[in-house]
Amino acid sequence: MRLMLLGAPGAGKGTQAKFLIDKYNIPQISTGDILREAVSEGTDMGLKAKIAMDNGQLVSDDIIMGIIKDRLSKDDCKKGFILDGFPRTIVQAEELEILMKELNIKLDYVISLNVADDEIVERITGRRVSKLTGKIYHIKYNPPVDEKEEDLIIRKDDNKDTVLKRLEAYHEQTAPLIGFYKEKGIFKEINGMQKIENIISELENIIEGK
Ligand code: AP5
Repeated sequence: MRLMLLGAPGAGKGTQAKFLIDKYNIPQISTGDILREAVSEGTDMGLKAKIAMDNGQLVSDDIIMGIIKDRLSKDDCKKGFILDGFPRTIVQAEELEILMKELNIKLDYVISLNVADDEIVERITGRRVSKLTGKIYHIKYNPPVDEKEEDLIIRKDDNKDTVLKRLEAYHEQTAPLIGFYKEKGIFKEINGMQKIENIISELENIIEGK
């Protein structure tokens, strides 16, 4: 199973990907997570990416394609994968097609989680991430069972000003992917404003062809 989760920042891609990893035993490939790791390690790539990320802009296509080429060639991707937050531009989608042709593989589904912009702001500003486990929480919608047990952090780009810029980047540069994948006949969409559990079961229905 090769899936791509599409959606605005905070639409719930990471939350859903975490369930899919366990259920289907395939890796999540989050370009955002890979970039954040590079930033915290202070690598050359991290230093280049940091400025764009802190400003709510997209990182350059050549950096992103370098990450993806490297990641998709790893053994754990042979049985499938979930792309989370990639591709995010038409250029990235076209380059992914070329890469997948070389690897002789295809995407099964591109699934969009649709969430209204005002809800996105609420979700992003209330998000907390466990430093220890990487689990994603929300102070109101999905709080940790025992807050004291989790070392919770707020992502540097999770503030109102930056989220508005990220939303702008999504509508201008990423939303055109909807038309791109509709034409390929692999596009599906889910109302992302439902409860987390309902979205999981809709995803399962799509994946299992129900
Ligand atoms: P990235 O890390 O990919 O961030 P993003 O796309 O902005 O997405 P998020 O991680 O913010 O949200 P999500 O959809 O995963 O939502 P989550 O499940 O956490 O990218 C960060 C930056 O890196 C970009 O801005 C860019 O600079 C760069 N970058 C990354 N990839 C790139 C690429 N391909 N090209 C160029 N640049 C790239 O949920 C959010 C919150 O909502 C949580 O608190 C959660 O608990 C809550 N929640 C989830 N589902 C629900 C629900 N159904 N109901 C209520 N609350 C919910």
